[in-house]
Amino acid sequence: MNIIDYDHNFFGRQDILGVLRKRITGLKEGYRQNVALLGSRTTGKTAIIQKLISDHDDRDTIILYLDLESRDFSYFVLQFTKSLLYHFSKVQGLIAQEDLKLLCLSCREMVPQTVAAVEAVNARLAEGKTAECYGALLALPDIFYVETKKAVILVFDEFQNLQNFDVPEVFTELGRRIMTQKSCLYIVTSSYQAQARAILAEKLSLLFGNFEIIPVLPFDLAASAQLADRHLSGIKIGLQLKNFLADFTGGHPLYINILCQELIYLCGVYRQEEIYAPILTQAVENLLFNPWGVLSRHFELEVHGLCRGRSGGPLSSVLIALAEGKHRVADLAAHLSLKTSQAAQRVNILLTADIIEKNGNYYHIKDKLFKYWIKFVYERRLRAIDLENGKSRKLFKEEINKAANDFQMTARKDLSARMTELLHKFDSEALEIAGRRYKLSMFKDITPVKLRLGAGNFFDAISAAGEDGRWLIVLKKDPVHENDLNAFLEEMKKMTPKPQRCVIVSLSGLDDNAKIRALQEKLWVWNEEEINTLMRLYDEPYIVR
Ligand SMILES: Nc1ncnc2c1ncn2[C@@H]1O[C@H](COP(=O)(O)OP(=O)(O)OP(=O)(O)O)[C@@H](O)[C@H]1O
Ligand SMILES: [Mg+2]
Repeated sequence: MNIIDYDHNFFGRQDILGVLRKRITGLKEGYRQNVALLGSRTTGKTAIIQKLISDHDDRDTIILYLDLESRDFSYFVLQFTKSLLYHFSKVQGLIAQEDLKLLCLSCREMVPQTVAAVEAVNARLAEGKTAECYGALLALPDIFYVETKKAVILVFDEFQNLQNFDVPEVFTELGRRIMTQKSCLYIVTSSYQAQARAILAEKLSLLFGNFEIIPVLPFDLAASAQLADRHLSGIKIGLQLKNFLADFTGGHPLYINILCQELIYLCGVYRQEEIYAPILTQAVENLLFNPWGVLSRHFELEVHGLCRGRSGGPLSSVLIALAEGKHRVADLAAHLSLKTSQAAQRVNILLTADIIEKNGNYYHIKDKLFKYWIKFVYERRLRAIDLENGKSRKLFKEEINKAANDFQMTARKDLSARMTELLHKFDSEALEIAGRRYKLSMFKDITPVKLRLGAGNFFDAISAAGEDGRWLIVLKKDPVHENDLNAFLEEMKKMTPKPQRCVIVSLSGLDDNAKIRALQEKLWVWNEEEINTLMRLYDEPYIVR
């Protein structure tokens, strides 16, 4: 039986690691660019940092990792000072002690000024002079650099928690230091995007040393399937079932890891070498339905954390309504018999907690599996009068099976059918997709058409009549080249009346010249990322290429 080795299973994220490594090289070359990794809980921010540290092999720079989640100020000071001397000892080939006094003793000869500064910092802490201690602590990397010519990379994991320390002006002071320190690179992470962005924009918007924001998103469908492949090596799984697994977990590496581990276990129990739907259903049931299943517990704790206290109580009904497809404040208010202001206030709490996101006037639960759990497990549990579990277990299994079957049926549909279904769901919402705002339309009449482009060459397209004119949506799975686009533009110009809006839906993207032409002609281009964002926003499964 395979066992997933959690210490050595890091997968992907090469683009983000590439940027981080470039920033470390930049620091050594005198160009410092601080970085903030922002992403929802358990998307893998800490894992990226761990990978960066374990691959780090450079005597000129030292990475100090400080986890600020539920930690207090004295822990922060002790860990900061100890790590600095510990990593220095390691690089110098000294015996790396774990006790601060021993570390000071063994390093004093080589870095007397740094050790003196470390001792002074800890003395301030013992005297309760928090502000002075904090200032002196942040000055340490500079003193260390002057003495050793080794630059420090300071990682603050969940950096927004600095504000929980009883230190006055904690971010202003940090900002002041960052501005003047050129030999220290800051990498910060946060699971609370709105809060983190506000701190970065208001308190750490610096003259020198602004933060480059890198989003840490769940894996896309292809990467999720590859991660599952790696875990399941030796066990067969059909392509569609694997894609379902990727879609179902929303690409969260943690959920993929846990689900694969359960699948491996069940294959061992049932002596199967291939995963079929019943085993997948059983694994999901064990993890998500059983109250002591790992994922069930994980989500239970999440809801418990959110709904604690008086203001949290009513949040669970808002979560349930969101999971059931009520996406606007007005719809939520009507559904829950609340005033609009009450619904808006509750939605704001969920936004701040980073559980939901806003797009246009739409609110969505970010984590797809969490949403599924709320709808099919949590809501049922709250509603149950009859505590006999058998009936709801049977229902849950049927629903998982249906979800897997529906996914496979949908995946078999061609692009035109999928797009038609999506267009039927559009309303007059203005949504932001991949950083651009699109005003959508409510369509009355949607029909597939074939566009003839020269001899024997056809494009699949959809003609959709909306409230403010007709849209022409051209569909292409293969890459779109400039000559395709020119032929299409020529054809479009002959049409009367001319379509009011043209969209190129291309799953494999456009070549550079085609992109420029599309921009000149004001065509909208939706690639795989844009299409799958729309699919997610309208609660449809992802498109599998
Ligand atoms: N790139 C990856 N490859 C494989 N597994 C990963 C990867 N990233 C994350 N994971 C899995 O997800 C788990 C959670 O990741 P991690 O703790 O890094 O998330 P996080 O974003 O730091 O979450 P938190 O907000 O809770 O701090 C890891 O323990 C690991 O099992
Ligand atoms: Mg983390």
